[in-house]
Amino acid sequence: MKFYESGDEGVALLPVSYKDWEVKAKEILAAGPFDYVNGGAGAGDTMRANLEAFQKHHIHARICCDVSERDLSIELFGKEIPVPIMLAPIGVNSILHPEAEVAPAKAAAKLGVPYILSNVSTKSMEEVAEAMGDALRWFQLYPPMDQELTDSFLKRAEDAGYSAIVVTIDSTLLGWREKDLNNKYLPFLSGEGMGNYFSDPVFRSKLEVPPEQDVKGASKKALEEGNNVTFTWKDFEYICNKTSLPVLLKGVTHSDDALLAFEHGADGIIVSNHGGRQLDGGVATLDVLPSICEAVENRIPVLLDSGIRRGADILKAIALGATAVLIGRPFAYGLAVAGQTGVAKVLENLIAETELQLAISGRSSIKEVDGLFLKRADE
Ligand code: FNR
Repeated sequence: MKFYESGDEGVALLPVSYKDWEVKAKEILAAGPFDYVNGGAGAGDTMRANLEAFQKHHIHARICCDVSERDLSIELFGKEIPVPIMLAPIGVNSILHPEAEVAPAKAAAKLGVPYILSNVSTKSMEEVAEAMGDALRWFQLYPPMDQELTDSFLKRAEDAGYSAIVVTIDSTLLGWREKDLNNKYLPFLSGEGMGNYFSDPVFRSKLEVPPEQDVKGASKKALEEGNNVTFTWKDFEYICNKTSLPVLLKGVTHSDDALLAFEHGADGIIVSNHGGRQLDGGVATLDVLPSICEAVENRIPVLLDSGIRRGADILKAIALGATAVLIGRPFAYGLAVAGQTGVAKVLENLIAETELQLAISGRSSIKEVDGLFLKRADE
């Protein structure tokens, strides 16, 4: 009722649906930044498959249940989180809004939604931490080639109050993104998204000329660091042993890899294909979620992203075994359209829709969302 009555308390002009946020963002942004966010790898098949996977399952509602009290909270690494939603790491937010990562971080902090800061953020991890106060935040690492730099990033994240490390491993090479190739658009080359690198003493010590005098050279060096095509399980184990924080591996789509991640020390898995931006023709994350949950046998939490657009999607992912989900593009469009307010609105809508969906399906707690919640569409 509140949402229908209030006219959105002064933000009535903001969109409601994902599609409308996307349209509005397209109106506001130049082609380069919009396509960078909007695009996928190759023919876009993985990106489409991510969305289509949710249509293979229907919610099987129950009736005559008292749903007057509702609880969306979950527990993760010993902390209670009010909703099973997080903001996915998205780099280089300055192409979307002048406040860059500070805006989504503050929006998330206000709602108690965990924020995952990208390694390639415009703002440094310390600036974002300061803006968030005590609010829950994780740091995402593209494991650098240089171990000393890895150590430095991990130490800085620990010192700045990030409470988990997300190692993203599906992007040691940039995917074949035709829109960006057409636009000749790669924001990192002009120093955007280099907040953590340019402020890092180890990174700076390896440069012959400081970034202030040669932005392009320093940016290229940082990108080379992130293109860690030599990365193996041994390196992952090194990271797990190096930090005292929980480490999650992001970019897992195969159950054998989920098991290997667990065996090499992962404290959590993020089933993700980078929103279909890396491997074209790859599997949809929701399709592989059950086999991954089965492989790790509830010993570590399994999170999922890529294609989450609305409340029904969130509940379907949870029913198939996810502890929580991450959203990417939806909040990026909110950021482009209305900064912190836009991200907050995207999140508030998503949370409200999820809560309503839960209640209308006859459940009052997220803990009741299990295998019985769904019916396969082809059955
Ligand atoms: C991303 N993603 C991403 N992932 C990551 O680990 N580090 C990063 O810096 C980025 N940067 C990034 C930029 C942009 C513009 C997008 C769209 C995505 C991937 C992101 O974390 C997440 O996996 C996907 O966005 C999830 O898919 P949806 O929600 O966008 O469909």
